Amino acid sequence: MSKRNVVELECSACGKKYDARVEQHLCTCGKPLFARYDLKRAAGTLTLASLVNRPRTLWRYAEVLPDGAVVTLGEGMTPLLRVARLGATMKLPRLYVKDEGLNPTGSFKARGMTAAVTRAKQLVAKTVAAPTAGNAGGALAAYAAAAGISAVIVMPADTPAANVMECRAFGAQVVLLDGLISDCGKYVAERKDREGWYDVSTLKEPYRVEGKKTMGYELWEQFGGKLPDVILYPTGGGVGLIGMCKGFDEMQEMGWIGPERPRMVAVQAEGCAPIVKAWKEERVAAEFFANAATLASGLRVPGPLGDVLILRMLRQTRGTALTVTDEEMLEAGRELASLEGIFAAPEGAATVVAARKLADSGWIKAEETVVLFNTGTGYKYAEAWQRALRS
Ligand SMILES: Cc1ncc(COP(=O)(O)O)c(C=O)c1O
Ligand SMILES: [Zn+2]
Repeated sequence: MSKRNVVELECSACGKKYDARVEQHLCTCGKPLFARYDLKRAAGTLTLASLVNRPRTLWRYAEVLPDGAVVTLGEGMTPLLRVARLGATMKLPRLYVKDEGLNPTGSFKARGMTAAVTRAKQLVAKTVAAPTAGNAGGALAAYAAAAGISAVIVMPADTPAANVMECRAFGAQVVLLDGLISDCGKYVAERKDREGWYDVSTLKEPYRVEGKKTMGYELWEQFGGKLPDVILYPTGGGVGLIGMCKGFDEMQEMGWIGPERPRMVAVQAEGCAPIVKAWKEERVAAEFFANAATLASGLRVPGPLGDVLILRMLRQTRGTALTVTDEEMLEAGRELASLEGIFAAPEGAATVVAARKLADSGWIKAEETVVLFNTGTGYKYAEAWQRALRS
C-alpha cells in the first residue's frame, strides 16, 4: 500500500482525477485541483492527544499535507488572542483575533508557500514564479531561498515598498508592472512555458490551499477540539477561506466534527469587491471588478479564479459577504492596535469593521464565538499607516 499522503488530485469543479506524483496545475476545464488524502488512515494517527508532542509549526498536521522533505521557516501555530476590550466595544464578549502577522515574512501567505515550495522542490522545479498583490511574493521568495530554488515575482508597481524590498533581499527576480495582479498573472502565464517556470499562482497549483487550510485545523486545536461560530476573513483570491472550508470537510470525514460549520464571512474593500457584488446579486460566479483600487493591497484582486468556490462556501456555511472602506480599515487598525496591542495589516483591520457591522445588525449574536483573521502584520504597510497616523 502506498505511504504517500496525497492519494490523488481531483478537480474542484468537474471531479476529474489527476496523478499527484507529477507536476499538475489546473484541470483541463480550467478550474483548480484539490489534493485528496486517505483520511481514514490519517485519522488513525492525527488526534488531539497526539498533537501535544508535535512541532509547533503547521507541519504538525503532516498526515494531511503534501509529501516531500519539508521546506520550513517555522510557520503556523500563530496565537489565537482573546480581545475582550475590543469585543466590549461591539458587545461581543467572545471575540478573538488569530494573528497571522507572526508568521515568517509577516503574513499567512507563508502557510501556502511552505506547502507549495516543499512540493515544487520535490518535483525538481528550477524556478518558481508567481504574480502577487505583495505578501505572497515575499513569502514565495523566502521559501524559494530556503529551498535553494530561484524565484520570479511579478507585482504591481504600486505594491507596498516592504514587499518589493523583501523579495529583492531574498534574491528573487522582481518584475514591477503598471497594472493589477490580473495583469501580473497574464505576464506569468505568457512566459512560464518558454522560460521553464513552475507556476505558483493562486489556485493554479494545488498545494498553497493545503498550507492555508491549517488555519482551520489550528482553530479546532486551539479551541480544544471545537470550532467557532463565525469566522471573518479578508478575501482577495480567497485561498484562505477556501482552504479552511476544505479543512473542515476533512475534519468531518475524520470524525473530528459533525456537519456544523462556522459561518464564513468574506470581507472585501469597497474599491474591489467582486465577491460581495456577486453575493448580493445571488450569482454563482463573480464578474471582473473594473477599476479596482484599495490600499489593502492583498484585497486588490478584481477577478479571483476561485470565485465559484468562495461563493459556494459562503452559501454552504450560511455565511455572508460585505465591504469596508479604506478609511474604516485605517480607523479600525488604530483601534485594534491601541486597545489590544495588535498592529494589523489593513486587510486584517477590515474584519474589525465587518464584525461591528454584523453585531450591530444582529447577524452575529452576543453569545457567539467570533474569530477575526489578521492576515498580516501592519509593519509592512508603512505608506498606508504613515498617512493614517500623522496625529
Ligand atoms: C494581508 C493579506 N490579507 C488577505 C489577503 C487575501 O488573501 P486570499 O487570497 O486568501 O483571499 C492577502 C493577499 O495578498 C494579503 O496579503
Ligand atoms: Zn475540471
